[in-house]
Amino acid sequence: MNLILKNARVVSMSSGTDGYQPSFPQDIVIESGKIVSISCSNQGVLTSELQQVSVDSSLDYATYDCKNKLVTPGLIDCHTHLVFAGNRANEFEQRLNGVSYTDIAKQGGGILATVTATRAAQESELVEMALPRLDGLLRSGVTSIEVKSGYGLTLDDELKMLRAAKALENHRRIKITTTLLAAHAVPPEYKEKPDSYIDLVCEEIIPKAAEQGLADAVDVFCESIGFNLEQTERVFAAAKQHGLAIKGHTEQLSNMGGSALAAKYGALSVDHVEYLDEAGVKALAESGTAATLLPGAFYFLKETQQPPIALLRKHNIPMAIATDLNPGTSPFADLTLMMNMSCTLFGTTPEEALRGVTCHAAAAIGESKNRGKIEVGYAADLAIWNIEHPADLSYQVGVPHLHKRIVNGEVCHDSI
Ligand code: NIG
Ligand code: FE
Repeated sequence: MNLILKNARVVSMSSGTDGYQPSFPQDIVIESGKIVSISCSNQGVLTSELQQVSVDSSLDYATYDCKNKLVTPGLIDCHTHLVFAGNRANEFEQRLNGVSYTDIAKQGGGILATVTATRAAQESELVEMALPRLDGLLRSGVTSIEVKSGYGLTLDDELKMLRAAKALENHRRIKITTTLLAAHAVPPEYKEKPDSYIDLVCEEIIPKAAEQGLADAVDVFCESIGFNLEQTERVFAAAKQHGLAIKGHTEQLSNMGGSALAAKYGALSVDHVEYLDEAGVKALAESGTAATLLPGAFYFLKETQQPPIALLRKHNIPMAIATDLNPGTSPFADLTLMMNMSCTLFGTTPEEALRGVTCHAAAAIGESKNRGKIEVGYAADLAIWNIEHPADLSYQVGVPHLHKRIVNGEVCHDSI
C-alpha cells in the first residue's frame, strides 16, 4: 500500500532523547507497507529550509492529513494469552476471599480451568471469543500482538490455539506473532509424570508446530507451579533445534534461575521477572535478551515483589511492557493502561513506558529491525493520537486517545 501521511508530528522512538520528542510537522511516504522517506511538511517555521517530499511518479499514493497530530509507532503487545475459552471471575472472588493464586492452581483451578474450557471449544469459537478482547487492544493503538498457546496442552489443542491466533489476522487489521507455550502447566493426564509430558512437548508438539509454520517462538512457565529448570532446558533445546526463537515466563513467583537459563539459549525476552537478581540481569545483558514487565499480573495478583528496575536500567536491558492478557492473572485488554501501571507500580518513566510498548516490545518479539520505530525501512504500522505530549499515553486512562491506526501502510477507517 502506498500512502503519504501529511503533517505528522512524529515521535519516532529512535535511540536518544530526540526519539521521544514530537517533531515539527513531517510528511511520511510509505510504499508497499514500508516507510521510504520522512521529510518536513510544506508549512510551519521550517518552510524555508525544507526539502520537498519526494515520491515515485510511477506509483499511486493515497494521502492522509494528520493535521499536526502526534504519530507514534503502532503499539506492540509482546506478551498475551489472547486466545482462550471460559471465564475465571469465580477465582477472582475466591482470591478476594483469601485463597491464593498458587493454592487455586494446586486445587486444579487456575490455568487448568481454562484448559478444560479451551479444549472443549472449536477453533472458530476461539476466534470469536478472542475478537472482543482484540478490539480492546486495537482501541489502545496496538498494531502488533504476540499470542501464546498454552491452554490446550495436547498436540491437537495447542495447534488449534495457534491456528486460531493466526486467523485473527483475517478478521482485523493486525500483525500477529505466535508463541507455542505447551509447557505452561502439567496437564491433568500427566499429573504424576510431568517428564513424560515434556517428552511429548519436545518430540511431538514443537516439531509439528515448527513444521506447520504455526509458531515463531517457544515459551515455558518456569516456576514451582510450572516446570523446573531441567524440564525448561529440554524445551529450550528442542525449540532451538527446530529453529524457533525462545521466550520465558521466569522469576514471576520465585527466583528459580529461569531467566539466566533462557539467556544462555539466546532468548528474545524473559517475562514477569519480579524475582530476578543481579546475576540474572547480567546474563540478560550478555545475551541481549529483553525483560518484559507485566504490571497487570502484578497488580491483579496483589504482588509486592517489584521487578528490579534499577538493575535493569544499570545494565541497559531493554524493558518491554505488555498486557499478559489472560483470564487468570491479567484480564486487561488495554496496553496504555499497562503503561500507566508500569509507571505507577514499578516507577518507570513515561518515556520508558512508551519505549516498552514500541521499540523494546519489538525486540521482545524479534522485530527490532522492522517495527517499533518510525524510521526509513521500518514497517508503516503507526498510531495517530489526539494527545499533546507522548506522556499523555501513560498519564490518562479511559479517554479515547487514539485517532487512527495505520497497519501495513493502510489507514484503518473502522471505528476501532
Ligand atoms: O502469564 N504465569 C503463567 N501464565 C499466565 C497466567 C495464566 C493463567 O492464570 O491463566 C501469566 O500470568
Ligand atoms: Fe503470561
